[in-house]
Amino acid sequence: MVKTENSVVITKSLGPEFGAILATLHQQCVAHGAWSSNSYQQMMGLHTSSALIAMVDQEPVGFLLSSSTSLESEILMLCVAPKVRRLGIGSKLLLSLVEDLAVQGTCDLLLEVAEDNHEAINLYGKNGFLEVGKRPNYYESPEGKKTSALIMKRIIT
Ligand SMILES: CC(C)(COP(=O)(O)OP(=O)(O)OC[C@H]1O[C@@H](n2cnc3c(N)ncnc32)[C@H](O)[C@@H]1OP(=O)(O)O)[C@@H](O)C(=O)NCCC(=O)NCCS
Repeated sequence: MVKTENSVVITKSLGPEFGAILATLHQQCVAHGAWSSNSYQQMMGLHTSSALIAMVDQEPVGFLLSSSTSLESEILMLCVAPKVRRLGIGSKLLLSLVEDLAVQGTCDLLLEVAEDNHEAINLYGKNGFLEVGKRPNYYESPEGKKTSALIMKRIIT
Protein backbone atom coordinates (compact mmCIF):
# COMPACT_ATOMS: atom_id res chain seq x y z
CA MET A 1 0.00 0.00 0.00
CA VAL A 2 1.52 3.32 -1.04
CA LYS A 3 -0.20 6.43 0.23
CA THR A 4 0.75 10.06 0.45
CA GLU A 5 0.57 12.26 3.53
CA ASN A 6 -2.43 14.04 1.99
CA SER A 7 -4.67 10.95 2.18
CA VAL A 8 -4.26 10.71 5.97
CA VAL A 9 -7.13 11.88 8.17
CA ILE A 10 -6.48 12.60 11.86
CA THR A 11 -9.42 11.76 14.15
CA LYS A 12 -9.55 13.46 17.57
CA SER A 13 -11.39 13.24 20.89
CA LEU A 14 -11.43 9.46 21.14
CA GLY A 15 -13.06 7.65 24.05
CA PRO A 16 -12.13 4.40 25.85
CA GLU A 17 -14.01 2.36 23.20
CA PHE A 18 -10.99 2.91 20.91
CA GLY A 19 -8.66 1.13 23.36
CA ALA A 20 -8.67 -2.14 21.40
CA ILE A 21 -7.65 -0.33 18.18
CA LEU A 22 -4.71 1.34 19.90
CA ALA A 23 -3.62 -1.93 21.52
CA THR A 24 -3.72 -3.73 18.14
CA LEU A 25 -1.64 -1.02 16.48
CA HIS A 26 0.82 -1.01 19.37
CA GLN A 27 1.31 -4.81 18.98
CA GLN A 28 2.13 -4.30 15.29
CA CYS A 29 4.72 -1.65 16.15
CA VAL A 30 6.89 -3.13 18.90
CA ALA A 31 8.62 -6.47 19.44
CA HIS A 32 7.56 -6.68 23.09
CA GLY A 33 5.89 -4.65 25.83
CA ALA A 34 2.76 -3.51 23.95
CA TRP A 35 0.09 -2.25 26.36
CA SER A 36 -3.16 -4.19 26.62
CA SER A 37 -6.58 -3.13 25.41
CA ASN A 38 -7.65 -2.74 29.06
CA SER A 39 -4.70 -0.49 29.82
CA TYR A 40 -5.55 1.74 26.86
CA GLN A 41 -9.21 1.86 27.86
CA GLN A 42 -8.25 2.96 31.37
CA MET A 43 -5.82 5.61 30.15
CA MET A 44 -8.28 6.97 27.59
CA GLY A 45 -10.93 7.24 30.28
CA LEU A 46 -8.82 9.74 32.26
CA HIS A 47 -9.75 13.39 31.80
CA THR A 48 -6.04 14.21 31.40
CA SER A 49 -5.57 11.86 28.43
CA SER A 50 -6.21 12.49 24.78
CA ALA A 51 -5.70 10.33 21.71
CA LEU A 52 -5.35 11.03 18.01
CA ILE A 53 -5.75 8.31 15.39
CA ALA A 54 -4.42 8.52 11.82
CA MET A 55 -6.77 6.92 9.29
CA VAL A 56 -6.08 6.00 5.66
CA ASP A 57 -9.17 4.92 3.71
CA GLN A 58 -10.96 4.59 7.09
CA GLU A 59 -8.32 2.14 8.33
CA PRO A 60 -6.50 3.08 11.57
CA VAL A 61 -2.77 3.15 10.79
CA GLY A 62 -1.27 5.14 13.66
CA PHE A 63 -2.01 6.91 16.89
CA LEU A 64 -0.65 9.33 19.46
CA LEU A 65 -1.69 9.13 23.11
CA SER A 66 -0.83 12.04 25.40
CA SER A 67 -1.49 13.22 28.92
CA SER A 68 -1.80 16.91 29.80
CA THR A 69 -2.01 19.30 32.72
CA SER A 70 -2.69 23.01 32.23
CA LEU A 71 1.00 23.81 31.65
CA GLU A 72 2.62 20.62 30.45
CA SER A 73 1.82 17.70 28.17
CA GLU A 74 3.55 14.34 27.78
CA ILE A 75 3.50 11.93 24.85
CA LEU A 76 2.72 8.49 26.30
CA MET A 77 2.86 6.57 23.01
CA LEU A 78 3.23 7.25 19.30
CA CYS A 79 2.94 4.37 16.81
CA VAL A 80 2.63 4.12 13.04
CA ALA A 81 1.91 0.75 11.38
CA PRO A 82 5.02 -0.66 9.63
CA LYS A 83 3.33 -0.76 6.20
CA VAL A 84 2.83 3.03 6.13
CA ARG A 85 5.98 4.31 7.78
CA ARG A 86 8.18 7.06 6.39
CA LEU A 87 5.21 8.75 4.72
CA GLY A 88 4.91 11.62 7.19
CA ILE A 89 2.13 10.10 9.32
CA GLY A 90 4.07 10.25 12.61
CA SER A 91 4.96 13.88 11.90
CA LYS A 92 1.35 14.67 11.05
CA LEU A 93 0.15 13.21 14.38
CA LEU A 94 2.78 15.24 16.24
CA LEU A 95 1.85 18.44 14.43
CA SER A 96 -1.83 17.91 15.17
CA LEU A 97 -1.08 17.56 18.90
CA VAL A 98 1.21 20.61 18.89
CA GLU A 99 -1.50 22.72 17.22
CA ASP A 100 -4.08 21.64 19.83
CA LEU A 101 -1.69 22.34 22.72
CA ALA A 102 -0.85 25.79 21.34
CA VAL A 103 -4.56 26.68 21.29
CA GLN A 104 -4.89 25.42 24.89
CA GLY A 105 -1.85 27.49 26.00
CA THR A 106 0.25 24.50 27.05
CA CYS A 107 3.91 25.50 27.60
CA ASP A 108 5.92 22.33 27.14
CA LEU A 109 5.56 18.95 25.42
CA LEU A 110 7.75 16.18 26.88
CA LEU A 111 8.46 12.53 26.07
CA GLU A 112 10.73 9.61 26.88
CA VAL A 113 12.37 7.56 24.15
CA ALA A 114 14.84 4.67 24.26
CA GLU A 115 18.29 5.96 23.33
CA ASP A 116 18.64 3.23 20.66
CA ASN A 117 15.31 4.11 18.98
CA HIS A 118 16.97 6.12 16.24
CA GLU A 119 13.92 6.44 13.97
CA ALA A 120 11.87 7.98 16.79
CA ILE A 121 14.73 10.24 17.95
CA ASN A 122 15.14 11.45 14.35
CA LEU A 123 11.39 12.04 14.08
CA TYR A 124 11.30 14.09 17.28
CA GLY A 125 14.46 16.01 16.42
CA LYS A 126 13.04 16.90 13.02
CA ASN A 127 9.88 18.16 14.72
CA GLY A 128 11.54 20.57 17.12
CA PHE A 129 12.28 18.40 20.19
CA LEU A 130 15.58 18.75 22.05
CA GLU A 131 17.18 16.30 24.45
CA VAL A 132 16.89 17.69 28.00
CA GLY A 133 17.75 14.69 30.18
CA LYS A 134 18.54 11.00 30.44
CA ARG A 135 17.30 8.16 32.65
CA PRO A 136 20.04 5.50 32.79
CA ASN A 137 18.96 1.85 32.38
CA TYR A 138 15.31 2.88 32.33
CA TYR A 139 13.94 0.10 30.08
CA GLU A 140 14.55 -3.64 30.45
CA SER A 141 13.84 -6.19 27.70
CA PRO A 142 12.48 -9.69 28.47
CA GLU A 143 16.10 -10.92 27.99
CA GLY A 144 17.29 -8.51 30.68
CA LYS A 145 18.99 -6.00 28.37
CA LYS A 146 18.82 -2.51 29.86
CA THR A 147 18.50 0.64 27.77
CA SER A 148 18.56 4.26 28.87
CA ALA A 149 15.73 6.68 28.15
CA LEU A 150 16.27 10.13 26.70
CA ILE A 151 13.92 12.87 27.83
CA MET A 152 13.05 15.24 25.00
CA LYS A 153 11.11 18.50 25.10
CA ARG A 154 9.50 20.87 22.65
CA ILE A 155 8.49 24.33 23.80
CA ILE A 156 4.93 25.03 22.61
CA THR A 157 4.10 28.54 23.86
C1 LIG B 1 8.87 6.38 15.11
C2 LIG B 1 7.64 6.25 14.21
C3 LIG B 1 6.39 6.71 14.97
C4 LIG B 1 7.86 7.16 12.98
O1 LIG B 1 6.64 7.22 12.23
P1 LIG B 1 6.65 7.63 10.68
O2 LIG B 1 5.25 7.89 10.26
O3 LIG B 1 7.41 6.62 9.90
O4 LIG B 1 7.47 9.01 10.72
P2 LIG B 1 7.58 10.11 9.54
O5 LIG B 1 7.29 9.51 8.22
O6 LIG B 1 6.77 11.29 9.95
O7 LIG B 1 9.14 10.46 9.60
C5 LIG B 1 9.61 11.75 9.92
C6 LIG B 1 11.10 11.71 10.11
O8 LIG B 1 11.47 10.80 11.17
C7 LIG B 1 12.74 10.20 10.86
N1 LIG B 1 12.56 8.75 10.64
C8 LIG B 1 11.39 8.06 10.60
N2 LIG B 1 11.66 6.75 10.39
C9 LIG B 1 12.99 6.61 10.30
C10 LIG B 1 13.86 5.50 10.09
N3 LIG B 1 13.39 4.23 9.94
N4 LIG B 1 15.20 5.72 10.09
C11 LIG B 1 15.69 6.96 10.25
N5 LIG B 1 14.91 8.08 10.44
C12 LIG B 1 13.59 7.89 10.46
C13 LIG B 1 13.20 10.84 9.56
O9 LIG B 1 13.93 12.02 9.91
C14 LIG B 1 11.89 11.21 8.90
O10 LIG B 1 11.97 12.22 7.95
P3 LIG B 1 12.34 11.82 6.41
O11 LIG B 1 11.47 10.66 6.03
O12 LIG B 1 12.03 13.08 5.65
O13 LIG B 1 13.80 11.46 6.41
C15 LIG B 1 7.47 4.78 13.69
O14 LIG B 1 8.70 4.33 13.18
C16 LIG B 1 7.02 3.80 14.77
O15 LIG B 1 5.83 3.63 15.01
N6 LIG B 1 7.98 3.14 15.46
C17 LIG B 1 7.65 2.11 16.49
C18 LIG B 1 7.03 2.73 17.72
C19 LIG B 1 7.96 3.74 18.36
O16 LIG B 1 9.15 3.51 18.51
N7 LIG B 1 7.37 4.88 18.77
C20 LIG B 1 8.09 5.93 19.46
C21 LIG B 1 7.99 5.68 20.94
S1 LIG B 1 8.83 6.99 21.83
